[in-house]
Amino acid sequence: MSPVDYRKKFLDFFASKGHTILPSASLIPENDPTTLFTGSGMQPMVPFLLGQKHPAGVRLADSQKCFRSGDIDEVGDNRHTTFFEMLGNWSLGDYFKEEQIAWMWEFLTGEVGLPPERLYFTCFRGNEALGIPRDEESAKLWQKLLGSDAKIVDFSDRDGMQGGRIFYYDEKKNWWSRSGVPSNMPVGEPGGPDTEMFYDFGAELQLHEKSVWASQSCHVNCDCGRFSEIGNNVFMQYVKTDTGFEQLPQKNVDFGGGLERLVAARENSSDIFTTELFQKLREAIEQLCGKKYGAAVENTYAFRVVIDHMRAATFLIADGALPSNKDQGYFTRRLIRRAVRMGHKLGITQNFADAVSRAVITAYADAYPDLKSREELIVAEFVKEENKFRVTLDKGLKVFEKQLEEISADVSKMSGQWLFDFYQNFGFPFELIIEELQMKGATITEEQIGKMSTDFSVVFEAHKNLSRAGAAQKFKGGLGDTSDISVRYHTATHLLHATLKKVLGEHVQQKGSNITPERMRFDFSHNEKMTPEQITETENIINAAIQKDYQVSCEEMSVEQAREKKAIGLFGDTYGDQVKVYTVGDVNSPANADPTASTFSREICGGPHVEHTALIGHIKIIKEEAVSAGVRRIKAIIE
Ligand code: ALA
Repeated sequence: MSPVDYRKKFLDFFASKGHTILPSASLIPENDPTTLFTGSGMQPMVPFLLGQKHPAGVRLADSQKCFRSGDIDEVGDNRHTTFFEMLGNWSLGDYFKEEQIAWMWEFLTGEVGLPPERLYFTCFRGNEALGIPRDEESAKLWQKLLGSDAKIVDFSDRDGMQGGRIFYYDEKKNWWSRSGVPSNMPVGEPGGPDTEMFYDFGAELQLHEKSVWASQSCHVNCDCGRFSEIGNNVFMQYVKTDTGFEQLPQKNVDFGGGLERLVAARENSSDIFTTELFQKLREAIEQLCGKKYGAAVENTYAFRVVIDHMRAATFLIADGALPSNKDQGYFTRRLIRRAVRMGHKLGITQNFADAVSRAVITAYADAYPDLKSREELIVAEFVKEENKFRVTLDKGLKVFEKQLEEISADVSKMSGQWLFDFYQNFGFPFELIIEELQMKGATITEEQIGKMSTDFSVVFEAHKNLSRAGAAQKFKGGLGDTSDISVRYHTATHLLHATLKKVLGEHVQQKGSNITPERMRFDFSHNEKMTPEQITETENIINAAIQKDYQVSCEEMSVEQAREKKAIGLFGDTYGDQVKVYTVGDVNSPANADPTASTFSREICGGPHVEHTALIGHIKIIKEEAVSAGVRRIKAIIE
């Protein structure tokens, strides 16, 4: 059975238990300034775990694309990747522990066919200070399934596994929230104890993969590679408060398990990179470098990095994170450049990113048809980025070696300015420079890395501000260029945003926007399909506002002032201190999306916009549809 079938098997299984199957959300979270990437299946579910009603019901399942930037440094072992597919199922205040544990057992041992004797489980030990009890219920449910002789052990490093199959661990291992352990959680965040499922690849692995583990007592949560976590059932029933924890109004289940690890367990291969899931990618790279994966230990690390990073970058580009110097794009750049560097180590000196990204697209085209339809665009981005880096790669490596000689490999002599210049001139992201240092055998402590990173960031940020000021300068003249159809659509987007809040309610928030010369597209949070009456009302209000011919003005102010003036915008940390605020109508009156009011809308935005609304023309909404859970999309044209 192919890996794709396990994805389907999971979804079919939960569909048969009454779950609605949802499509994967984007890797780039919409309207969530607190995080750059979607890193778990539950991220788009937070409002529903907290009690908001989900339009698709109380039983949901999906296979969610995830990217964990924090795991970049973990890639290289037998099971970590930055990108992965998380199979997930949710109960929103419906079933709880008993059903979830029974279904997981049925799925893993029945549907997937994993031998029960290879399965191990962990549960939450409980914490009196937090007022959260030990999760005996879960432990007993697993014991019932394993057989009454399955031992439950309160795990301690000193005593090791003691022949147990079910282990209690503390909140570092068996508590889940987006922010991690309870003490890291902000007030209002949901979380709860979890019970994790592990697959045992065999005791010999403890001795095999890294000898350092041989002398330590192995356990399911240790890093020797013998055990792999194949899934996590979170019982989301708490919410953080000022003083501790409170029960949520509903008891939720949040299950997540990596498809890659499930397939590895099914194939009984402790190395996920040897599974069928990665076959096409592995073969593409083998062909390019003329070496076999696994044939020489010294190449294994580089192979794994290339496979992981190219796959991740392909999905990131498909979701709009094009290689750049900032935000999500910086990660895409870092992944591609590191992959090129590691490919170089494997002996690939010619361009290869196009071939590898095509292999990724072929492997995933059925599950993610968007990849196929955007294939040429994606590949073009890879080619552009690789070309940029390759021009300087060899020269950069030489300059780097020279610098190392000059400072006698004393990394404390590498200034932030030097690191930044090297990045600017030769395209080596900071993290890649550190890795080069390590590959060259330079001694470098965590503390030194921290200091270098700060020094680098200071120069990097200073440079970014300069270029932002430059960009602002460029835009000034552009404001008057009203013949530009995109500018007209842009101002129409502000009118639409304000109008939707009026017609549908204040909960409407922009989730995305895209303008082409042919149309505007606007995504926003709303749980129901708009009625024909609401669509007509929206069109009428916008067109009345256009006809009224409001003046459009731009003011610069602090974020604080913008907030006071009730400008629409996300008050996260994505803005600098000063922001531009565009007002449609009188700058001194409060905005009200009513065409009889003197001010129609006020929004934080970089511009440019038309000078007065009559320049827009007549707006028509041509489509209103769902994009993902709780997100609607409007397409509109200027007639
Ligand atoms: N949200 C849980 C996780 O990511 C399932 O592990």
